[in-house]
This record gives sequence, C-alpha cells and structure tokens, in this order.
Amino acid sequence: MKKRHRLMFPLAAVTLALGTWGYHAGWLASTFSPSPTAAQIVDEMEAAAGRAHPGFRRNHAKGLCITGRFDGSGQAVEISSAQVLQRGSVPVLGRLSAAGGDPAQADAHGMIRSMALSLTGADGQTWYTAMNSVPVFPVNTPEGLYEQLRASMPEYGGSGPDPQKMNAFKQAHPEIQPFEAWLADHPASSGFDNTAFYSVNAFRMTNARGQVRFVRWSMVPETAYTPMTAAEGSDPDFLAFGFAHRVAQSPARWHLMITLAEPGDPTTDATLRWPEEQRRQIDAGVLVIDRQQPQIDGACRDIDFNPLELPAGIEPSDDPLLLAREAAYAESHKRRVAEQAGH
Ligand code: HEM
Repeated sequence: MKKRHRLMFPLAAVTLALGTWGYHAGWLASTFSPSPTAAQIVDEMEAAAGRAHPGFRRNHAKGLCITGRFDGSGQAVEISSAQVLQRGSVPVLGRLSAAGGDPAQADAHGMIRSMALSLTGADGQTWYTAMNSVPVFPVNTPEGLYEQLRASMPEYGGSGPDPQKMNAFKQAHPEIQPFEAWLADHPASSGFDNTAFYSVNAFRMTNARGQVRFVRWSMVPETAYTPMTAAEGSDPDFLAFGFAHRVAQSPARWHLMITLAEPGDPTTDATLRWPEEQRRQIDAGVLVIDRQQPQIDGACRDIDFNPLELPAGIEPSDDPLLLAREAAYAESHKRRVAEQAGH
C-alpha cells in the first residue's frame, strides 16, 4: 500500500507539471484536461464575432488609446510596496474599449465598457491592469467562459444567440445571476468619462513589511454618472467622439479605490462581489487622462494588457480566470500582431 503511494506521488506531480506547462503551451491541455486552451477560447471569440477581424483584438476590439498620468496619494503604501503606488506622479498609457470581437460594432451594443492601463514606476516596473464596467464576471472558470462563448452571448456580436442554447447555458451556470442582475440595474452610461471600471478578479498586495492582503480595485470617475440617451445610442461611435470632445475641454479623472478583503471574502470566484460598503477602501490616487488617439496607429495598439504583468508588491490571487486571461490575451496578441506585420 505504502509502495503504491510512493509511486503515485511522482506520477501525479509529473502529470500536474506537464498539465501546467501544457496549458501555457496551448496544446497538451486539450489532450489531458477538460480545460479549454487559449487557442480554443480565442477561436470561439472569433466565431462569436462572426469572423476574425485581422489586426484587431479578439475581444474588446473597438476602442481608443489614452495617455496621461497617475498621481499617487501615497495612502496605498500601507498595503503595497509597488513603486507605482507611492506618493507622486507616474506616466500612464491605456485603452478604453467595449466588450465584443467586432471593431465596427455600434456603441449601443457594447454594454460592457472597459479600461486597460499600464502604469510605469520610476524603478522601471510596469503595472498592467484591464478592468470592466461590470464588477462581476458572468462565469468563474475558463470552462464556463468557453461554454458561454459557445452559447454565443449577444455582447460578442454575430447574429445573436440561439435562445435555446442560451437558456441551457444559463440553467447549467446559475453563477451568471449576479452579472445579469447588475446589468439590469445599471443602464449603460453616456460616456467613458462617467463610467466606473472594476478589476473584477481579486489580487493580493504586499507591503514593505511583508504583510499580505487580498484586494480588488476600481477606478471611480469624478464626473457624475448619467445614462446613455436615445440620441447617443443611435450614433454608432458616440463613445469615441464624446471622449475626444471631453479631453479637449478638460482632463478626465478617476480615483483608484482599493478595497480590502475581510476574512471569508471569496478571492477565487469572480462572480461574487464583496460587500464594498462594509469594507475598508483606500483612495490610492487620481488617474488623469488628458489625451486620446485612434487605436489604428495609437501607442496602445500593440500592447498586451496582460493582467498578470505585475510589479513587486502586487500579486495574483488563485482565481482560475487569471491564468486563462494571461494565456488568452497572449494568443489574441500573437494573432493580431502577426496580421499587422503582414500588412
Ligand atoms: C475576469 C474579468 C475580465 C476583465 C475585467 C477583462 C477585461 C478586459 C479588457 C479591459 C480588455 C481590453 C484590453 C485592451 O484594451 O487591450 C480585454 C481583452 C481581452 N480579454 Fe478580457 N477580461 C476579463 C476576463 C477575460 C477572460 C476570462 C478571458 C479569456 C480567458 C478574456 C479574454 C480576453 C481577450 C482574448 C482579450 C483581447 C486581448 C488582446 O488582444 O490584447 N478576458 N479584457
């Protein structure tokens, strides 16, 4: 009995190591594990968008580049040693976008807006974060996302979902309920500048004394929320035009609010919110965006806003979506950059 255990352990370890490596390599997982590979997920994103759109991101395809700075308040030093969160200013390059794989989709269809940022500290370390305007994700595993894509949500474009497939998906994935409830209660905003963006996934922060806390963060706009009007909704490009007009008048500003988890708060399930009003929040500083450029030749075009590219002092949680995100963003990036090179 003992002997068998000794033999089983190395076998399990090798299988696990191969599985982990294979997941990143993108092919072994399809043979040994039910987890979808990054290529399979990105293929489904292309299919849900009707087809691949060469040179564009396979999700959040429509967007614009932004630049500005982050003025750290210094308050986050208590929880993170990251240089970008110290008191002072660091440069920011980012991207505003809407979920969906069609770069020509009408803005009224992009119910989920997004903000991706890279903040580079004086020590040369860059923090990449990609946030959505909905604080929860519809599913909590890569398998769930794959099934959701196969059931073809309307946000992903294409000819719309088959209601029977979609109902079957929802019955099999009741964890989608908080996401749907949030969308129903929060009509889309009238612009990027009055939208809040959320990290959705939990992360960890470590301070200079080595103390570790689980966190989520959000970018909270200084501009008050107003809902999208019917006139705005009938203009397919009102988001980019509105944002260009806004920054020509005055910079758009958001506060980086870091929410601290309490013991028992879920850190590996992106479908579950924490009761934020009962949690301590730290105002880490102000994001100031004063310029925007079209993505077609803007500085954000070829960037991979990999949510696991983190500076010392910010670490991932064990949320399984994070590794899947890193792999899928890399796959999408590889495809679109190769297509750009071919032009
Ligand atoms: C869990 C919460 C998630 C958030 C907050 C989020 C947010 C975002 C944002 C903001 C972008 C646009 C990035 C940019 O402007 O370059 C993006 C793109 C993308 N997302 Fe997500 N996402 C999430 C989950 C996922 C998951 C689970 C997957 C797949 C496993 C995924 C796959 C992608 C892909 C392939 C892109 C295009 C990347 C590129 O070509 O650079 N996302 N996401």
